[in-house]
Amino acid sequence: MASCLQLNAKPFTPLVSPNPLSKHTFKLGRVRCSAASPSKRYTITLLPGDGIGPEVISVAKNVLNLAATIEGIEFKYQEMPVGGNALDLTGVPLPEETLSAAKQSDAVLLGAIGGYKWDKNEKHLKPETGLLKLREGLKVFANLRPAVVLPQLVDASTLKREVAEGVDLMVIRELTGGIYFGQPRGFGTNENGEEIGFNTEVYAAYEIDRIARVAFETARKRQGKLCSVDKANVLEASMFWRKRILEIALDYPDVELSHMYVDNAAMQLVRNPKQFDTIVTNNIFGDILSDEASMITGSIGMLPSASLGESGPGLFEPIHGSAPDIAGQDKANPLATVLSAAMLLKYGLGEENAAKRIEAAVLDTLNRGFRTVDIYSSGTKLVGCKEMGEEVLKSVDSLVPSPV
Ligand code: IPM
Ligand code: MG
Repeated sequence: MASCLQLNAKPFTPLVSPNPLSKHTFKLGRVRCSAASPSKRYTITLLPGDGIGPEVISVAKNVLNLAATIEGIEFKYQEMPVGGNALDLTGVPLPEETLSAAKQSDAVLLGAIGGYKWDKNEKHLKPETGLLKLREGLKVFANLRPAVVLPQLVDASTLKREVAEGVDLMVIRELTGGIYFGQPRGFGTNENGEEIGFNTEVYAAYEIDRIARVAFETARKRQGKLCSVDKANVLEASMFWRKRILEIALDYPDVELSHMYVDNAAMQLVRNPKQFDTIVTNNIFGDILSDEASMITGSIGMLPSASLGESGPGLFEPIHGSAPDIAGQDKANPLATVLSAAMLLKYGLGEENAAKRIEAAVLDTLNRGFRTVDIYSSGTKLVGCKEMGEEVLKSVDSLVPSPV
């Protein structure tokens, strides 16, 4: 398992300052004449999904294409429905064709799913059910959610500058187990005849062991600190989680391990987030804490994620939702999806150079002052989703890697 996105690093030196190339130069399909015929070919399943999903995926696809072309990589895309649009088209949130296309590809890039229209649907017909089935079907049990406060965006954080500055943490969320999938679950009636709803938080040893190993390996490549978050003062599933984490820790004596109850972790994340390096936790705590961690960085619109299994394609998606309130208005921040495409290259395909190009281009675009509304502050240039994408393309085009 490779380390997290090194967003604070400066792996690239711009050799030419970004030149104001005309927009049409960046249209899809633009191929550098100098690029040799591609040596590597991959199939990518694109799942734009609902709400702002199609807008951000369209930007990320263009960025992915340009970075790949420069690196001599060729992508074949297959676009498939998932979530609400799949419900409208086929009556189910994850059509079999979508899952089998995803399984057969080299990596999957997802926009977002969900929207008001389907909110009242029964559980098996909710867009979210499609996403959970996709994660389950691809067996992507390890969800990596980096939260990095970029120097350019410190003032976008709601936390004080001295608290937010320099935060660089990675939440590793178990993604295919726990209360999201545990049995028994459902609705019923209790002994008093009252209606009830119930779920089960359950983890088998192998599920904890494998996520623990991913976390220890990741921490080892970062600052060497791992904090396991649980609720072992109350929940048996958490007591067992802690026992297995301690067992696996024996193989990683070089990693400094700590344990924290989830309520305290939620508090510490806003009190002093810099104390954290790598966090490992279960499915539901990871869902909640990663949203909280994202806010430290200023906007959930900046944060990518990678979901990986033992083999097979990874699933890459921004951690934000479908934002139906701004869908179709060209207001969405595409950078989380662009950075998810970088994670796809790095973690999914092992194409580090192309990934670095994209990360560097995002930083360069921010350095040049471009901001979508969610990260806007006075003195910067407000742009929409499309224009942000065009600026990132200019940066990808103008930055070349410095020899390291
Ligand atoms: C996330 C989301 C999903 C989750 C929803 C949309 C099912 O909140 O990816 O964090 O709960 O995992
Ligand atoms: Mg969530």
